[in-house]
Amino acid sequence: MSVAVLIDGKALAAKIRGQIAETAARMETPPCLAVVLVGDDPASKIYVRNKKRACENCGFRSVSREMPASSTTEEVVETVRSLNEDPTVDAILVQLPLPEGIDRRAVIEAIDPEKDADMLHPVNLGRLASGVKGPAPCTPAGVMRMLEEYGIDPAGKNCVVVGRSELVGRPAALLLTGKNGTVTVCHSRTRNLAAETRRADILVAAVGVPRLIRGDMVKPGAAVIDVGINRMEDGKICGDVDFDDVEPVAGYLTPVPGGCGPMTIAMLMQNTLELAKRRR
Ligand code: GUN
Repeated sequence: MSVAVLIDGKALAAKIRGQIAETAARMETPPCLAVVLVGDDPASKIYVRNKKRACENCGFRSVSREMPASSTTEEVVETVRSLNEDPTVDAILVQLPLPEGIDRRAVIEAIDPEKDADMLHPVNLGRLASGVKGPAPCTPAGVMRMLEEYGIDPAGKNCVVVGRSELVGRPAALLLTGKNGTVTVCHSRTRNLAAETRRADILVAAVGVPRLIRGDMVKPGAAVIDVGINRMEDGKICGDVDFDDVEPVAGYLTPVPGGCGPMTIAMLMQNTLELAKRRR
């Protein structure tokens, strides 16, 4: 039985960060990313630390605003507004999820669309839906970059996205459509998930259900992109794809960790660089 080609997101992300660092080094003032972290969710703290470290690696400046979980929506919005007005800040990221009780929509809509590192402001999602070229939400942008790097062209292919989140599933579907894929979006109300996923030449799993996608749900030779980062009881990280079961069936497969995670951060650096260039 053949075994899937592993898509090395970690190595590709390192290469992209290197290229970004070279560009940043030629700029008069380095790009600056502001990260807002509300509350003390342990996973979010790790992600934010990795994002700050990536800024250092790329020669960017980063500033952080850490706020208690008891903050009000108004306080978080005010923090975002102050970063909008700070001319030394090029890009703003509010780490999600926000603690319960904070209006995520109000916070995201407070971000200046021209400083929106995640490209999640409705203006930017609208631009994406309209087919405007440019930065895209980081995780789906990373998915597209990995497909490109491995010569997997969505044009004319059946692309199945499992998950319809604002952060990943929906924008991934738009990006795949933009590359002429025939896109199906599946979610918790999909009647026969396996029948849909088995038709996929490109399968993107982004639901947050550990090992949901098993080998018998995958078309032989398909490219399977695992966006899931599920923390298990033993502390280990596991994807939405059952790796051992799918590896003998798929043509390409992203590992977890080492696939989509590092690529998300590389795309965040790329978006920050692009927004900074536009402001110079
Ligand atoms: N939480 C998980 N992924 C992301 C992301 O890409 N951006 C933000 N802001 N929060 C996240």
